[in-house]
Amino acid sequence: MKESIFFILSSACVLLIACSPALTPIAIRNGPVVRPTTSSADLVRGETLFNANCASCHGLKAVGTAQGPSFIDVIYEPNHHADAAFVLAVQRGVAAHHWKFGDMPPQPQVTIDEVRLITAYVRSLQQAAGIQ
Ligand code: HEC
Repeated sequence: MKESIFFILSSACVLLIACSPALTPIAIRNGPVVRPTTSSADLVRGETLFNANCASCHGLKAVGTAQGPSFIDVIYEPNHHADAAFVLAVQRGVAAHHWKFGDMPPQPQVTIDEVRLITAYVRSLQQAAGIQ
């Protein structure tokens, strides 16, 4: 009797371990890559930093100006221009290659942490426009 209870319990354990990947919800295993949500306070900081350092060329709400391109464009979606491209652009500047606006000068007054806030803000504008 004792043995059979032990057998049932141990087989239940084996089953549980063997089946646990199957029990994991599919959305967690194969779900879309979800970007961490940025707090609204950080988005406000990102917008303020963007307006102070980038909007003169990239436009308020990143819609572009005669001096620089809009980021509400599939060219700048995360798969084409990853977040690292924003850090590089700020640190090294950008030689004109996509457009005819001219070169982007480096922006040494902007720190890496500030670029991250700016990038999160730009991503939120892109998402709102359906560019993921
Ligand atoms: C003096 C104008 C100017 C300012 C200020 C400026 N940019 Fe730019 N930026 C440009 C231009 C022009 C381009 C497009 C170059 C091209 O591809 O032809 C550009 C391109 C970029 C790109 C794309 C880089 C790539 O790899 O193609 C990023 C990212 C970027 N800017 C981020 C920023 C951020 C963030 C700020 C503010 C901290 C900023 N820019 C401020 C003019 C500017």
